[in-house]
Amino acid sequence: MKNMAIEIIATGRAIPPKRVSNDDLAAQIDTSDEWIRSHTGIGYRHIADESVACSDLAAEAAKNALEMAGCCPLSIDVIVLATATADYYGTPSTACIVQDKISARNAFAMDITAGCTGFVYALETAAGLLSVGPRKRALVIGAEVLSRVTNWDDRGTCVLFGDGAGAVILERTEDKAAGGLLQTLLYADGSGAESLIMRRGGSRSPYKKGETIDTSICIEMNGQEVYNFAVKAITDTLEALLKAGNFSIDDVTRIIPHQANARIVLAASKRLGIPIEKFYLNIEQFANTSSASIPIALDEINRLGQLKKGDLILTVGFGGGLTYGGNIIIW
Ligand code: COA
Repeated sequence: MKNMAIEIIATGRAIPPKRVSNDDLAAQIDTSDEWIRSHTGIGYRHIADESVACSDLAAEAAKNALEMAGCCPLSIDVIVLATATADYYGTPSTACIVQDKISARNAFAMDITAGCTGFVYALETAAGLLSVGPRKRALVIGAEVLSRVTNWDDRGTCVLFGDGAGAVILERTEDKAAGGLLQTLLYADGSGAESLIMRRGGSRSPYKKGETIDTSICIEMNGQEVYNFAVKAITDTLEALLKAGNFSIDDVTRIIPHQANARIVLAASKRLGIPIEKFYLNIEQFANTSSASIPIALDEINRLGQLKKGDLILTVGFGGGLTYGGNIIIW
């Protein structure tokens, strides 16, 4: 790693056009715009059409990033795709389907399952692969169609989630001064697996012949438990990132947190004494898009022209697994 850097050279995103407001949901279930906004900060979510799968959004976000980079899909050596809502269970990976959709025939491709921390894990995985092999470019994607695994009768979860995808292109350069992905910290606590789970359909509990598929295939969550975990996960991760990089909070340009609930971010900002303005929040528009939320936010902030070369960015993710972690990035 000594004489190289792993830079983010482009970003992209894909947001399904159908926008569903809190009032739209309140017309279907017992909830209200006031409750959802005051408890989560969410105003809208985008929902993919029935014909759209994870790989469709992922490929669109990837093309968007390739266009910004001005590079050819054939120049991509690695595709790492984070998702909890793969096109298919187990095999083939959604990354392989994306590889074909975007004609990145020279890339090997694989999925990462790390809940809403998926993109943070995927960035580090791709950077590791670039740093040890004869590889130059990686496409890292977070993509979700959570609406497909949402129980629309459960007001405790259905108001929280949305669909979307974000992507970045990583490039290995021999110029160490180029900045890029400086360090990543990753954590897992499998003892919390039950608190955020899609229980049915896997090898632990497959559907049997004749059985009717029901909502047990959907996301189940212990909201209070996940809330407490999430506040601690953000707080611990940000403290650890600052310590690992030997930075003070004043050195940091922007923190891009996983967009699960604005209250979680607010609680962490209070606990750490970090002004809330340091955190980039777009949850009002997109709700929780799991592993897509950080790359969507990164693309938004990038295209808004809010980042300049040399800026210090911290990402922080947390979610199912339980998993959490963050990246230190020099833009
Ligand atoms: N609309 C209206 N009322 C709702 C509601 C909704 N969408 N969802 C729950 N309620 C009700 C509950 O039924 C309960 O009513 P009761 O007091 O009559 O029983 C009341 O609101 C409080 O419920 P509670 O679950 O204690 O609310 P909360 O303040 O903990 O907020 C979450 C619920 C889900 C918003 C919160 O726990 C949370 O954000 N958890 C973390 C979720 C998360 O981030 N998950 C993804 C991690 S990656």
